[in-house]
Parts: sequence; C-alpha cells; structure tokens
Amino acid sequence: MSRLWERGEPLEATIARFTVGDDPQLDLRLVAYDALGSLAHATMLAEIEVLTHEELTALRRELRQVVDEARRGEFEIALAEEDGHTALENRLTERLGDTGKRIHTGRSRNDQVIACTRLYAREALLRVADELRETSLALLRLATEHRETSVPGYTHTRQAMPSTLGLFFSAWAENLLDAAPWLEVAYQHLNRSPLGSASGYGVALALDRQRVSDLLGFDRVQRNTLAVQNDRGRTEMLVLGTLLGPVLDLSRLATDLIWMSSEALGFIRLADQVTTGSSIMPQKRNPDVLELIRANGARLRARHQEAANLYAGLTAGYHRDLQYTKAPLLAGLEETVDVLRVLRPVLSTLTVDDRRCRESMDRSIGATDAVYRQVAQGRPFREAYKEVAADPEAAVESDPSEGWRARRHLGAPGALDLGELEERATELGEWHRGRQRAVAATWQALLG
Ligand code: ARG
Repeated sequence: MSRLWERGEPLEATIARFTVGDDPQLDLRLVAYDALGSLAHATMLAEIEVLTHEELTALRRELRQVVDEARRGEFEIALAEEDGHTALENRLTERLGDTGKRIHTGRSRNDQVIACTRLYAREALLRVADELRETSLALLRLATEHRETSVPGYTHTRQAMPSTLGLFFSAWAENLLDAAPWLEVAYQHLNRSPLGSASGYGVALALDRQRVSDLLGFDRVQRNTLAVQNDRGRTEMLVLGTLLGPVLDLSRLATDLIWMSSEALGFIRLADQVTTGSSIMPQKRNPDVLELIRANGARLRARHQEAANLYAGLTAGYHRDLQYTKAPLLAGLEETVDVLRVLRPVLSTLTVDDRRCRESMDRSIGATDAVYRQVAQGRPFREAYKEVAADPEAAVESDPSEGWRARRHLGAPGALDLGELEERATELGEWHRGRQRAVAATWQALLG
C-alpha cells in the first residue's frame, strides 16, 4: 500500500523516510480519533447525497473495526503509507473498493490531521483536569492533617516567619487549582471543528460543516477555512502553555519536598516505596521521582517553545513544518498527566516530623510577630521594628513557633479557608464530568 498522491515516479528512499518522520508511530495514538472524525464526515456526505446509504453502512462497519483495532493496538501504519490518514484510506479502499476511494471527498489531510489532533487533545486535556483535581485534593488532605503543624516559613531560602504545613500544602493546592479556568479556555479553543476547511480553501461541494461539528461534539465550527489552517501550531502552543502553569508548580513543589526531606531539614520523610536506592551506596534512598517531576518543568517548556517556534514566521496556510508540532503536543499532554498522577503516592505516604519542624526554628524567626504585638498595642510600626531590631532576644518569645496563630486575616496561616479550595475542586470536577459525558456520548453515537 502506498502514498495517496503517488503518480508513478518513486520517491527517493532517504527523502521518504525523512519526510515521514515519526508519523507512523505517533499516528497510532491518533488513528481511533481519525476514524471517529471519518465516521462523522461520511455521515454528513451521505446526508448531502455524496455517498449512498449502502456506502455509508459499509464505511461505518469498517471504521468501527478500525477503532477497535486501534484501541487494541493492532492497527498498523507502514512507512510507505506516510501517515495514519493514508493508512486509514488505504484500508477502506482495500476492503471496500470504490466506496473507500470516496472517503476523501470534501476533505484534505490538512483538516483531517487537525480534526484528529483536537479530538485526541480534548480528551487528554480532560485527563489533565481530572488529575489536577485529584492532586489538589491530595494536597488539601495534607493541609487539613497538618493545619497546625508549625514549620519555618522561608523567603530567600532563609527563615522568615513561623508558619504551618497547612499553609504550605494548601498554597500549592490553590496554585494548582488556579489552572482550572485556563484549562477550560484551552478546551474551548480546541473544541472547534476544523473539518470542511480541507486544504485551507474549502471545496466546491455543499458540505454541512455544522452537522459534522455537532456529530463530533464540538462546541462550534471554526469558521474561516484559512484561519483553521493558521491555527495549527498556535493551538498546540496555547494548550502546552496552559499546561506550563501546573507543571511548573509541580516542579517547584518537587524541589520543596526534596529539601524538606533532606538530612539537612528533615521536616518530612518520603516513604521507601516512593524512593529509589543506590547501586553503590547501600544506605541511600533517593527522591528520583521528585527530581523527574521537577525535570518535566524543563521538558514542557522546551515542548512549548518547539510548537511556538515551528509556527511562527510561516506564511498563511499549511506547511509541512507543522507536522513537527504533533510530537510536542502529544508528549506534553501525556507527561502532564503522568507528573500530576505520580505525585499522589508521594504525598499520600509522606510522614511529618513535627518535632524537627518546630525545633528547627531559630528564635529570631519570631521577630516580626514581636513587632506586631507592639503594633497591636498602638506603637507605630517603624518604632516597634527598631526596638525589636535593637534587642531581638528581649522582644522575642522563648518559643516563637506558634506566632502564626495571631495572623488570622483572610488567607493567613491562622485562619486557613480550606473549604473554598474544596469548592473550587468540586467545580472543576463538575466541569470535567459534564465535558466527559459529552465526549462519551459522541463516541457512543458514532460507534453505535
Ligand atoms: N502528516 C502530515 C502532517 O502532520 C499530514 C498532512 C499532510 N499534508 C500535506 N499537504 N502534505 O502535517
């Protein structure tokens, strides 16, 4: 089976391999979505009488079979076929003859690849949203459990003010949940039907683009046929950019946990089942998992840059450069799901050394709270500051570790509002469930 555009003259072998690149492997992850898009496209073609009812029935049967095979990992894409779209059409033609040759009516691989990438990415984004919610909740559980565990709060990696592990863990939960509206916007951007834009300029057929969009559960048709093509690369950049927020949060949190579990600080202990050993030093347990979570921040930044750099500067319309935007998108989405997921066993098994947390505080850490005790009695702030600065020993309590209790305004460690964060996690869960249901209904309706 060969390429769709073949005219007889053989393509030089090294050029064939080079231009095909990683598509035969990457497209294996997209084939089921390509078949889903094809089911909707064929349904519409039958409705506008480009395909007969019999042809549609035959195509449906074959496309459903492809979905099954792709899900079982049995669908194959040969190098000579270039990509999954070609393999799909070859397969339909091999099985159905002329009917298979009609599937490409009213489309181009240019809109086809965008369609299946978006169908894939919207589900991956839903997985990200769900993992993000779960990981936020895991952080919130730790925050609840250690709401009153005193620990030094740091700025510049120097002790700053007495704080709590409740504040620490719920801070990262809040930061993670801040990604929720961004995920929803990225989802809306993705969830538009590109089909019918063809190579970027439409076709001379009365395509019902709205119908295809509805069948695929897209929110709407992305209008201008050329704008659809110009969006390739940009969508990838936007989605990857959205993932950067939570992945960089996790990268920083991983660094925190590495230090907090070091011999030097010893505030927390990582369980043996989440740490790895050394091949030479028998005593060691290493936080490799956290180091790799941290490294995923760097990787995702590179993937985001890759997508952005590939599309910047191209003239309007399709260019083969855009093929390279597929790998960073798929990798970025899958790695984000992974890092969010893999952090949870680390969190659920970590133990806290309350005594180390408290006893590691220098007495001078209570200086600011001492200033505010005077401020509460009416002293001007700067005067109180200067007095404490002149003789901290005299001003600071002998055990300053619970100074955080007096800080009770909104968001402060003495008055953590974990309920508000739980509500935000619940709202994200509701959004996720609604979208998930719609996506499942799409598959159900087209697969029968
Ligand atoms: N593998 C190609 C890509 O990802 C599919 C589209 C090919 N289109 C073309 N005009 N050569 O971009």
